[in-house]
Amino acid sequence: MGSGLSEAARAAAAAVDEGRLWQALMDVAAIGARPDGGVCRHALSDEDIAARARLIGWAEARGHEASVDEAANLFIRRAGREPDAAPVLAGSHLDSQPAGGRFDGVYGVLAGLEALVALDEAGVETERPIDIVAWTNEEGGRFDRSCTGSSIWAGASELESYLGDIGADGVRLGEALAKTLAATPDLPRRPRRWPAHAFIEPHIEQGPVLEAEGVPIAAVTGIQGVRWMNVEVSGKAGHAGTTPMAGRHDSVQAAVRAIAALNDLMADAQDLVRFTVGRVNVTPNSPNTIPEKVLFSIDFRHPDKAKLEMRGGRIGQVVRKAAAPCDTRLMATLTMDPAPFPEPMIALIEAAANGLGLGCRRLASGAFHDALYAAKVCPTAMIFIPCRDGLSHHPAEWAEPRHCADGARVLAATLVELASD
Ligand code: HGY
Ligand code: MN
Ligand code: MN
Repeated sequence: MGSGLSEAARAAAAAVDEGRLWQALMDVAAIGARPDGGVCRHALSDEDIAARARLIGWAEARGHEASVDEAANLFIRRAGREPDAAPVLAGSHLDSQPAGGRFDGVYGVLAGLEALVALDEAGVETERPIDIVAWTNEEGGRFDRSCTGSSIWAGASELESYLGDIGADGVRLGEALAKTLAATPDLPRRPRRWPAHAFIEPHIEQGPVLEAEGVPIAAVTGIQGVRWMNVEVSGKAGHAGTTPMAGRHDSVQAAVRAIAALNDLMADAQDLVRFTVGRVNVTPNSPNTIPEKVLFSIDFRHPDKAKLEMRGGRIGQVVRKAAAPCDTRLMATLTMDPAPFPEPMIALIEAAANGLGLGCRRLASGAFHDALYAAKVCPTAMIFIPCRDGLSHHPAEWAEPRHCADGARVLAATLVELASD
């Protein structure tokens, strides 16, 4: 983006309508709304299906074509002069955490749709088509292995390997996927993989920096690495009142020892390590039965791959030693290495923000995103906007209407620049 934004990019950004975008955000927030103001819109659920239908209705009313691939990734296409040119892709995810917020993921999809409308209203024609995408199962709140749709599209995994996964509600992923695809039987099908010219993901920061500094936009420099695992601790059930303490194989006590030992492994004076045990399932989960089995989750993250591997590689041994005499089994469910974004793409976001008179700073992402997989196959960038108190994965998650619109303006301008060559 030479010495500044093109007139077309400026016109597209100027046509972004804050009220229209905000209304779309609140309309979709009502799908899967929780009484506490948050949302629960699990991947491939009835709520996800309803949100997809809403997007398709909006898109088709504007003459943009919706399509879907076999992983249920949903695409909304705005045609370009060159129909066969590799499209510029933008978007994020519609699925949420079980007690999620109204902006995580869905903001990126709706900012994309708003950008398409703004280009329409500004009368901007582009060489390349522009595709807005809603990736399937980014969160992993229902089906464990997150970023399902983007990982398959990027060739990092195969759809078939997910079909037997059992969700937290006991439903097979293959069944939920079939139901989701059956809800849009007339949508044209996309092939599993195809080349994209670039991918841009707008997202709330999910951290406190932009709000604390009063900066409206971040050009994201990359995403830290992630290791997800499930640990199964197997003990011996028995009567809580009659079984002597000596010789018990109590799986909860063993899990507590293992988690305490992991806290020691993950201690970090620099506070860069992120270590979370977010889910603990106990079987049979009765107050007067010695617990037979515990299944707990591990979410471990770090920006440095060597540290991720060094500490991550020791988790199994630390757990086994601390949980003895209970047996343990470790299952890796997500392995994402740190993903830096290419300098020209980071600079593109900065130039668009600065060209629109918006303050912008560079920032690494502590959260993972579908952009992590897209970055494996095409030039990728992310646009962050502030969120209140840096809070996310929480019903009180909030972003200001003007920040949502600013992010969509930067996206609209960036899409015009990328789709014009
Ligand atoms: O967990 C994450 O980092 C993402 O928000 N799903
Ligand atoms: Mn997200
Ligand atoms: Mn999230």
